[in-house]
Amino acid sequence: MQIALYSLLMLYYGRKIAKKNVFILTLAVIFGIIKRIEIERQGENMKLLTELISEKIMDAFEEAGYDRNLGRVKVSDRPDLCEFQCSGAMAGAKQYGKNPVDIAEDVSGRLQESDIFEKIEVVKPGFININVSPGFPSAYLNDMRKDEKLGYEEDENAVKTVIDYGGANVAKPLHVGHLRSAVIGESVKRILKYAGNDVTSDIHLGDWGLQMGLIIMQLKEDSPDLPYFDAEHTRPYPHKPPFTLEELERIYPKASARSKEDETFLQNAQEATLKLQQGYEPYIEIWKHIMTLSKADLKKNYDAMNVSFDLWKGESDAQPFIPGMIDDLKERGIAHESQGALVVDVALESDKKEIPPCIIQKSDGAALYATSDLATIIDRKQSIDPGRYVYVADKRQELHFTQVFRTAKKAGFADENTSLEFLGFGTMNGKDGKPFKTRAGGVMRLEYLIEDINAAVYDKIKESDKLSGEQAREAVRMIGLAALKYGDLSNQASKDYVFDIDRFTSFEGNTGPYILYTAVRIRSILEKSGTDTSDLEIKVPRSDKEKALFLKLSEYNAVLKAAYEELAPHKICQYIYEISDVFNGFYHDTKILTEADDDKKKGWLALLDLTEKVLISCLDLLGIECPDKM
Ligand code: ARG
Repeated sequence: MQIALYSLLMLYYGRKIAKKNVFILTLAVIFGIIKRIEIERQGENMKLLTELISEKIMDAFEEAGYDRNLGRVKVSDRPDLCEFQCSGAMAGAKQYGKNPVDIAEDVSGRLQESDIFEKIEVVKPGFININVSPGFPSAYLNDMRKDEKLGYEEDENAVKTVIDYGGANVAKPLHVGHLRSAVIGESVKRILKYAGNDVTSDIHLGDWGLQMGLIIMQLKEDSPDLPYFDAEHTRPYPHKPPFTLEELERIYPKASARSKEDETFLQNAQEATLKLQQGYEPYIEIWKHIMTLSKADLKKNYDAMNVSFDLWKGESDAQPFIPGMIDDLKERGIAHESQGALVVDVALESDKKEIPPCIIQKSDGAALYATSDLATIIDRKQSIDPGRYVYVADKRQELHFTQVFRTAKKAGFADENTSLEFLGFGTMNGKDGKPFKTRAGGVMRLEYLIEDINAAVYDKIKESDKLSGEQAREAVRMIGLAALKYGDLSNQASKDYVFDIDRFTSFEGNTGPYILYTAVRIRSILEKSGTDTSDLEIKVPRSDKEKALFLKLSEYNAVLKAAYEELAPHKICQYIYEISDVFNGFYHDTKILTEADDDKKKGWLALLDLTEKVLISCLDLLGIECPDKM
């Protein structure tokens, strides 16, 4: 009975398969003759599936007397026509003065007997279209399952890397402008680590700027009796902060608004900032209190986003390096005076647009943004000595980073082998296409944004009575965060995107909740099956939809490699979206838990287990957690 069913099934699907192999394949599946095609492995490393296929085609090119490099294949651009394609015959046509179709025919003729191909077809003007035998990806997937990293190969040239992201400004509320840096940076950090790099993450707080002088001046006006403002210093400075966090949050906006109208107030604040930077004790005391309160609050916010840093250093930590750096740059003639300021020329002849000199000291002796970034590089070189720096900040800061990087290279703060990279991101816009604002028109605080998202998610899950109490709250938190992060990360970082709560929190389409829903669904099937899947093997696929899932899963290694090489989390998003769609297509047609054939069912459970692992691993690289239920 079983055999008859199998035969029918295989004959049905076989119609879509090249006739020649159908019979053999059907028999093979029925009698389990080809359980799997052995994949040749080189040492411990798992090659990409496309590399394995390429090698076969390359051999055939070589055999036929052509350059073997012409035989490289890639995943097909036309999945409706074939799974993989090779365009080498076209590339070789000129070189060998032959018709591309003839070359392709010659090559494909040599591959007809290979057991790893189901179809090798030549189409005009000279493409070789390829489908692999079902047993081929299944062997690959079983190898993936045996590997802790699912067959992902770490970078052989991994280096010590510093990633600078987050970049919040102390005493100013963390707003949506900092959201992207945190979300993208966290993901890029994870991608860098997964590839085997030794990564140090640093938040690089903006903790040394004008906001401090503004707060000090406002405080002086509101509470002139505080001992900090007593020039005689007759009373000790308090151990406890002279303001609460809430008060601090009111002081800054008040002072900032005032500075825009009142020129003297602004000047006083600038002077206070300079005094602070020169180490004036009473102001340093106030600054310490601001730092303690503000950092604790920031930490709470980043924790809530599941974003973390190895180092909580800031611009202030670079200060001790500045005087020596300035002297050194002057002495070596790298910096020169220009209109009272100290600058480093960084323009190159090859520049298409003008790159102005990097200003490292203003005429009044004040340090600038570039000064502290340069001094930070000196600090990092001494304390970490990285071979690579990655900065994640708004793309409007590109010129700043170009100037800083060129100065650092010119001065030798980073040697020629050290790579300094800027990952600039676009703006998060509202539905009106302008930078995202609250309904009231101001910049929105991140906490409120998260609250709004969670409310939208809660509305969606409350109809299902699967969750309640703490479990529901935890699920809402994770789904909300997934909506937010995936909504951001699924766009290429450098592009602007529209923040759309309704779309981001939808359980359908290219969204975080949809991916989580798929993963949770798979987990629930595995749980219900009550089977330990660890020793089960993935079998040969029996349908086109199942095979499509096999091939998608086998792209894991290649996709993560590309995401790493290009520091592009959006490639991982695209991949898990495709997996989710392909999986749901397969699942829709397949009754897994009620399958009577135990062998078949076990193969599917193993397949589900791998699908879940691939999804969870990719989500983790995006910094997204998955709830148990939803
Ligand atoms: N604090 C800066 C801002 O809010 C971002 C810091 C980016 N990192 C750096 N090393 N400059 O714009």
